[in-house]
Amino acid sequence: VHKSSIYLPVALKAELTGLAARSGRSEAELVRQAIERLLAGAGPQARAEDARPPGYERPSLVGVGVGPGDPGLVTRRAHAVLRDADRVIVTTTDEHSVGRAEMVVRAVAPTTRIQRVPFTITGDADARMHSLTDLSEVVVAATDAGELVAVAVLGDPSQRTVFPDLADEVRRQRSALPVVTEPGIASYQAAAAGAGVRLGLPGRALVVVDRAEDLDRHLAGGDAVVLYKASTDAATVQAIARDHGREDGVVAELAGLPGERIVAVADAGDGPIAYLATVVFPSPGPSLVGGSP
Ligand SMILES: C[S@@+](CC[C@H](N)C(=O)[O-])C[C@H]1O[C@@H](n2cnc3c(N)ncnc32)[C@H](O)[C@@H]1O
Repeated sequence: VHKSSIYLPVALKAELTGLAARSGRSEAELVRQAIERLLAGAGPQARAEDARPPGYERPSLVGVGVGPGDPGLVTRRAHAVLRDADRVIVTTTDEHSVGRAEMVVRAVAPTTRIQRVPFTITGDADARMHSLTDLSEVVVAATDAGELVAVAVLGDPSQRTVFPDLADEVRRQRSALPVVTEPGIASYQAAAAGAGVRLGLPGRALVVVDRAEDLDRHLAGGDAVVLYKASTDAATVQAIARDHGREDGVVAELAGLPGERIVAVADAGDGPIAYLATVVFPSPGPSLVGGSP
């Protein structure tokens, strides 16, 4: 690290001091970030893939989907927001643990400021509500200080993440604050690609469930079915698949990550399936309307 001295006009220095106090960041950190932004937008290193997404004013709250875990599956827009944000919040069960979403953020935006906020995902509704209130307070304090705040989540922010509830709570407290979402690739898309199976066909539904007990009726209806949070015994899933002649299902653990394992449901053993696993039952048979490429 090289040290630089710069002279600032009194008014600019006072504004910098004020922003540092409001945001809880050091003046040096803010100056460094301003220079990084300047350089990112100019010179030979400003590449097309570094383009900023349009329209993110300060302050704003952005839910950013970082995909299932492979940094290569982060969209260019998501990447740009992660790099440009004044802080990227990730929720964790324990503030000493680096979660999967944080690992992706570190890989694609190594200099960005990351803040871990503990969040209870197990436990009762009160505990979750308490976590949501704490998280919204962190977000509102940062946006009140004028920041562009990103909340990074696995997959896509709109499905089965804390973001939709957080967005509602923040809008309730700050109705004028822009709250937006950057989509991410869902794990079932990565799983289907890894397994080489089709997710959807014209005229047939694609259903995502997160309880093994919901598999039965959707498999019976001939839908393509995705099971999230598949932390159940593989034997249970295998029995349901057999009942419906849907043994073409695949279990994708750690999709797109080191240690990825994609196996047929029948070959998954009979023990527990990992939390970070997605089971995909492809669309069966021919499409019901039109042709399918
Ligand atoms: C809370 S949900 C998050 C879903 C996410 N928002 C999405 O759009 O894919 C967590 C579940 O996503 C699935 N998942 C996330 N990342 C995964 C990965 N790399 N491999 C397999 N499944 C994954 C697992 O089923 C996990 O239990």
